[in-house]
Amino acid sequence: MTAASIEVPLAKRREFGNANTLKLGLFGPNCSSGRTPTNAPERWSGDWGDNLRLARIADEAGIDFLLPIGRWKGYGGDTDYQGTTLEVITWAAGILASTRRIHAFATVHVPLVHPVIAAKQFVTVDHISEGRFGLNIVCGWNEDEFEMFGVTQREHEARYEYAQEWFDAVRRMWGEEEEFSVEGRFINLKKVRSKPKPYGGSRPIVMNAGASATGQAFAIRNCDALFTGLTGKPDFEAVARLVADAKGRAAEGGRELDVYTVGVVTCKPTLAEAEAYHQHRVVYQADWGAVDTMMRMHKVPTAGLAPEALQRLRAAFANGSGAYQLIGEPDYVAAELARLSAAGIKGIAVSFLNYAEELPYFCQEVLPRLERLGLRVKPQPL
Ligand SMILES: Cc1cc2nc3c(=O)[nH]c(=O)nc-3n(C[C@H](O)[C@H](O)[C@H](O)COP(=O)(O)O)c2cc1C
Repeated sequence: MTAASIEVPLAKRREFGNANTLKLGLFGPNCSSGRTPTNAPERWSGDWGDNLRLARIADEAGIDFLLPIGRWKGYGGDTDYQGTTLEVITWAAGILASTRRIHAFATVHVPLVHPVIAAKQFVTVDHISEGRFGLNIVCGWNEDEFEMFGVTQREHEARYEYAQEWFDAVRRMWGEEEEFSVEGRFINLKKVRSKPKPYGGSRPIVMNAGASATGQAFAIRNCDALFTGLTGKPDFEAVARLVADAKGRAAEGGRELDVYTVGVVTCKPTLAEAEAYHQHRVVYQADWGAVDTMMRMHKVPTAGLAPEALQRLRAAFANGSGAYQLIGEPDYVAAELARLSAAGIKGIAVSFLNYAEELPYFCQEVLPRLERLGLRVKPQPL
């Protein structure tokens, strides 16, 4: 069958081809140590063999998507946290060629990849996967990564102005049959042709995780999904307001937007076991050098904090950069996920200290609870 003969509507892509109300993904497995800067010996390798093994477990279990981190240089420390990383577009191609229904994003730094090459790479992976590819647009975060490319980071507002031109060009390459030229402030392209088009008559879904007002406005204007970070223990009423506001602003522009978040999971048979594992492996064995570098690079305000408060913040950063923490028994984890869903969150991308070792227990215990709550559908065997 040819791509032209099969229709994959955008609505189907947005749902990852299933009826799950709460979408679940895995965040960061393409990086060494994933999202946990720890010295624990079982920390995540991030190597290809483990990524492939994980992707197949996730595919079989009906996990909806995989979201890699775009990272070019690690955070140092004892382990060079996230220092060994698989490149995201080729990673997605390999993962999607080796799986059957799971979707995978590529997290792409727009100032570092030429839009004509990028558009064609995305379309190629989209064809390999028969429409299971998604794009996560990143405008720039870590200064030292840009230095490595000999590229100067633009000031914050201009990053998103550049991203708008870049994405407009990619979108035209995905959609326009006729040759076109671009004369922008940053991007100039002459007589562009780009074939084939994305798979199945639609296009890859697009997300962005901007945290600033400008970043979020970019997502609301352009994307299908806004990923928003929640800290530690979120205020679910505030989350509901954030979701309603973002979706409302997208609707004013005639667009549909879903809001996702990220989290870190330590799920064990009892709360005591989960807390003990977290304390021992994540906190006592943290790679503090990497934690402190990361906090410095991301300009986390620490001035004037009392030593205990500073240590609590560092410990939170040692577990998924301060993301929403789900530490407990399966009932608790499922109930928290249900609260997120009730607040309007469409899905969550989670990480584990060792993804492939911990995911099977999560799937065995938490997924059936979410099915009983009506938030997930039991997956068909592959
Ligand atoms: C869920 C999530 C995933 C992100 N992934 C990456 C990434 O892989 N690489 C990267 O350089 N930045 C990443 N970022 C950073 C964002 O793209 C963004 O630069 C950051 O949230 C700061 O927001 P701002 O650009 O609006 O100031 C991520 C942020 C979040 C919340």
